[in-house]
Amino acid sequence: MKTSRFLAVLLTIGFVLGCTKKGDQTTEGGKPAGSSIVIGEVGSFTGDTATFGISTHQGIELATNELNKAGGLLGKIVEIVKYDNQGKEEEAATATNRLINQHKVAAILGEVASRRSKAMAPIAQSNKVPMVSPSSTNPEVTAIGDYIFRVCFIDPFQGAVMARFAFENLKAKKVAILRDVGQDYSVGLADAFTETYKKVGGEIVSDQSYTEKDVDFKAQLTAIRGLNPEAIFVPGYYTQVGLIARQARELGIKAPLLGGDGWDSPKLFEIGGKAVEGSYLSNHYSPDDKSELVQNFIKRYKEAYGQIPDGLAAQGYDAAMVLFDAIKRAGSTDAKALRDALAATKEYPGVTGKITIDDKRNASKPAVVLKVENGGFSYVTSISP
Ligand code: PHE
Repeated sequence: MKTSRFLAVLLTIGFVLGCTKKGDQTTEGGKPAGSSIVIGEVGSFTGDTATFGISTHQGIELATNELNKAGGLLGKIVEIVKYDNQGKEEEAATATNRLINQHKVAAILGEVASRRSKAMAPIAQSNKVPMVSPSSTNPEVTAIGDYIFRVCFIDPFQGAVMARFAFENLKAKKVAILRDVGQDYSVGLADAFTETYKKVGGEIVSDQSYTEKDVDFKAQLTAIRGLNPEAIFVPGYYTQVGLIARQARELGIKAPLLGGDGWDSPKLFEIGGKAVEGSYLSNHYSPDDKSELVQNFIKRYKEAYGQIPDGLAAQGYDAAMVLFDAIKRAGSTDAKALRDALAATKEYPGVTGKITIDDKRNASKPAVVLKVENGGFSYVTSISP
């Protein structure tokens, strides 16, 4: 038992040699051709959304180690070649080209941020290399083509979940929105929220915007404060959300902030501090889930990384496992066979829920609503599609 764990660790070190610098690739090198199945990974290991890439990678790595320890796939071991895109879409596109042309990968795992997945997907599609996004939720990502999949729900659902939660659970009748107009994710989620919130009878009193580079949100927040909303929907990524929360409290705004999966990072608490307390977000998974599947996953992840897995890690793990399962069912890494096997995924028992790929190559799965409490996320409720 001990030896095999040690071996697995050694293998991992071999497979996933460090690579965080621009353009560097990770590969073990020197192994005879054909002895492994090579899978590409593109993520943000540095930059504004670094925890997205790091957590996702840890999930993918854990899945890969477990698979290899259990004998690998089709008689081969799986090797992950990863590239850091620094949170930039141009880098994500470059990495995708390299993975396909240089490393001849059988499939690609990534990205997290929808805008970056949208930069990668046309390249994967035109080369007919299956791509599985762990957690990009913008609907347009998988619409790019029949080789593009995801193992998460999409924003029309996530937005509706939070709109209903605001109106029905929080009884907020007036909400303001503060969206990142540079991110497809944020724009799509803000629109989805608006549509459902109006339908159920709520009023959007203000719809303000910012972009990723902004650090001062006081003008938008001052405009919002004047309208006295009962909640503010901020469907952004954690770095900006943390700052927005602080500045909102500095301006005396007491209304809770609401958001989506983009808030999911331990950095949210570091940046936002007390200001994020009492806010709510929708997400893919909660570590409070008592099921054996989830609790065992948490235990194994904690042993490997000394942390409780966040939603990104869980989605990364599931994306890799769904891909491995499809390769197994396809019996080969032939692109078309693998594509068909991914499309046929049914009720795969993921740690983030049962995964069935629908006819649009999306996963239909429940969402959880979490509350920011005592410097962490606590489970509030689950909502099914
Ligand atoms: N859903 C976000 C997007 O599409 C990415 C994300 C997923 C961020 C999960 C955090 C957690 O851009």
